[in-house]
Amino acid sequence: MSLLILNASQVVSPTGHAAQAGAAQGALAYLPGAVVRCEGSTIAFVGDAAEHDRLFPPPDEVLDASGGCVIPGFVDPHTHLPFAGYREGEFDRRLRGETYAQIAASGGGIVATVAATRAAGEDELLELTLRRLDRQLLCGTTTTEAKSGYGLNLPDELKQLRVLGRAAEQHPVEVVATAMPAHEVPSEWRHDPEGYVRLVVEEIHPAIAAAGLAEGVDVFSEKGVFSPEQTRRLLADTGRFGWRIHLHADELCNLGGAELAAELGAASASHLLHVSDAGIAALAAAGTVAVALPGVSFFLRDRFAPVRKLVEAGVPVALATDCNPGSSHTESMPQILALACMGAGLYAEEALVAATLNAAAALGRADRLGSIETGKRADLVVLDAPDPKHLVYHFGVNLVRHVVKAGRVAVRDCQRVA
Ligand code: NIG
Ligand code: FE
Repeated sequence: MSLLILNASQVVSPTGHAAQAGAAQGALAYLPGAVVRCEGSTIAFVGDAAEHDRLFPPPDEVLDASGGCVIPGFVDPHTHLPFAGYREGEFDRRLRGETYAQIAASGGGIVATVAATRAAGEDELLELTLRRLDRQLLCGTTTTEAKSGYGLNLPDELKQLRVLGRAAEQHPVEVVATAMPAHEVPSEWRHDPEGYVRLVVEEIHPAIAAAGLAEGVDVFSEKGVFSPEQTRRLLADTGRFGWRIHLHADELCNLGGAELAAELGAASASHLLHVSDAGIAALAAAGTVAVALPGVSFFLRDRFAPVRKLVEAGVPVALATDCNPGSSHTESMPQILALACMGAGLYAEEALVAATLNAAAALGRADRLGSIETGKRADLVVLDAPDPKHLVYHFGVNLVRHVVKAGRVAVRDCQRVA
């Protein structure tokens, strides 16, 4: 099966098979008038239309990109997709002045979502997850990471991760599952957090690994959640499962989370609102991808991560939605790009690299995803705009017209009214 995308104003993409940092964070290849040919699930040609016609037979299918540009599909490297229940009441209380911490202390917050997720049946959780994947795809995301962490006991963590496995089989969006039983200390272990740490290390992580349900692990290293010392113990043994390490680091205060991520050889460190200069230097030296989550800053009316400082220090920066019901309820990567630029000070080119190639690198997939280059997976978005800067400039609307996942058209013409 071959597919040819033609008539685009331009094809715009990062280049390379690794995370891009410093000046390279903003480097994009602009190919005016280029066509993209997919053979099976792979990109077979990017370039001049006449040259394509000389080299290749007519394609099985064409996709018209007239007036629009082609960019790589977005990779969302940090989400909490498989959750049940919403927290709009809590959101409303925050609009009226209560803080996230006050609401958590009064029994809301993560604990409320844990109760709803435990109560949900597996099929119900699957349905909720599939609809979120639909919304991601419609906004141009072709690969998403997704974490457990609202089960916080063995059966419900396994349930969340099985849901991700089933969703991956049924949905075009590629789902990368991360085990996160150390997202919070569950209520029943509040009297003995150390006991819960032992349970995670001795039973929950090994059982998830034995079931083959995750390819990475994450910990919420934070004051009042898991200390740096507990985080070290939670992750010490996970190398034997072949898991990539991710960390929720320096979100609400500075505990040296970035330094810890670097020390542990983490693939990514997320949040980083309170990262120190030493933490930034440690991330740069280790090559750990900093995943900025500007949706959280917007949604919690908090400060933004110092993304300009991170870029200037040579840390590869990625962007993610953190899609979850409490601190960033959105599936939209375009919205996140706009927030990253308008709120945190990234440039539009840097934001596009952050949401594609660098996000793929955070998930160990920069060799095959995140750019439009021959040999890479054919994950592509056609925007209803001549330049990807419109993702930021033409804010608050969805400019995605077509989405191609692994060489197949997964979304067609979503800008045309019937
Ligand atoms: O990434 N920081 C911790 N966890 C989530 C929030 C989860 C929730 O509020 O349900 C986050 O922001
Ligand atoms: Fe998160």
